Amino acid sequence: MSGSPEKALSVSGLNKSYNVPVLKDFDFDLRKGEVHAIIGSNGAGKSTFAKILTGLTPRNSGEVKFHGQPFNPASKQEASVAGINMVLQELNIIPTLTVAENLFLHALPHKRGIITRKVMRQAANQALQRLGLDELDPDQLAGSLGVGQQQLVEIAGALAQESSVLILDEPTAALTGPEIDRLFENIKQLRQEGVAMIYISHRMDEISKIADRVTVLRDGRRISTHDTTSVTVDQLVHEMAGNELAERRPHLEIEHRGPGLRVENLTALPAVRDVSFEVQKGEILGIAGLIGAGRTETLRAIFGADAMQSGTVFLSGEAEPLNIKTPVDALRAGIGLFP
Ligand SMILES: Nc1ncnc2c1ncn2[C@@H]1O[C@H](COP(=O)(O)OP(=O)(O)OP(=O)(O)O)[C@@H](O)[C@H]1O
Ligand SMILES: [Mg+2]
Repeated sequence: MSGSPEKALSVSGLNKSYNVPVLKDFDFDLRKGEVHAIIGSNGAGKSTFAKILTGLTPRNSGEVKFHGQPFNPASKQEASVAGINMVLQELNIIPTLTVAENLFLHALPHKRGIITRKVMRQAANQALQRLGLDELDPDQLAGSLGVGQQQLVEIAGALAQESSVLILDEPTAALTGPEIDRLFENIKQLRQEGVAMIYISHRMDEISKIADRVTVLRDGRRISTHDTTSVTVDQLVHEMAGNELAERRPHLEIEHRGPGLRVENLTALPAVRDVSFEVQKGEILGIAGLIGAGRTETLRAIFGADAMQSGTVFLSGEAEPLNIKTPVDALRAGIGLFP
């Protein structure tokens, strides 16, 4: 070893096909104690890679070395015993089990085969505390929690396991700002303890905050790997999109075909205050903002799914505003919502 950083994982020539190739000659390495982000568009193969590492799906060919030894887990359990754990992208909570049972689903604390409730509750309280979920009752059914809290329980379960490699697949999708901050504190703490992490995300702001390196995956191929400090968001976006951006650009020249939807001074408390915008016919309007900024709530209010306190919505340049009180009113007016 020539003074190069110690590798927790080293992957070479990985191939995986479902009906079509999903990972193509993928090379990747993960250093001990680093956070290595993987970014790429929908369907690029990020989750598939994570699932191969954690025994959830087999590879077709290629080599994975874990601390220098060939590694090919046949199950999630086998990967976990070896020290590789993962927070899946999809919610994986079992609603009919308690919070504590969900936390220790794969490693219930037991004494001669009997699960000791007291030990489990203590361990659960500890695990929940890490993520600021002190008020959660470990005996509560997980199904009674909101999506964000369910996600946090899953993350807490993964953090509570002894890992040398931890994979987080878009863990912040359902979390709020303070919850994300708390997760990041945990990630930084684990990194200091020498845990290596793969962090899959679409969010550029997250990557520059916590990742040491970032690998761009496009159509199953590794495009690049950078130190996070020496690459710009612009460059990453271009590498993710490839030629797509250039191909799409002409369509950004919008042909104005008259007003489609106009929203004036929409207020739907607590999230939405005095929002106004107009969309032309044939136009796609992007709404950007951080979690909690009120994007979803704005759309829900327009659709009548949430109550609005004030504001008016006009369709197709009509002078009379719409009167939408429920989603059924919205559908009748010709407005659809895909949540
Ligand atoms: N079980 C499966 N059977 C068949 N095809 C699959 C399966 N799982 C994933 N795929 C396909 O493999 C490709 C890669 O999927 P994958 O979930 O790894 O992408 P991803 O990069 O994680 O995307 P996202 O950002 O949407 O999570 C996609 O085209 C997907 O449709
Ligand atoms: Mg995915």
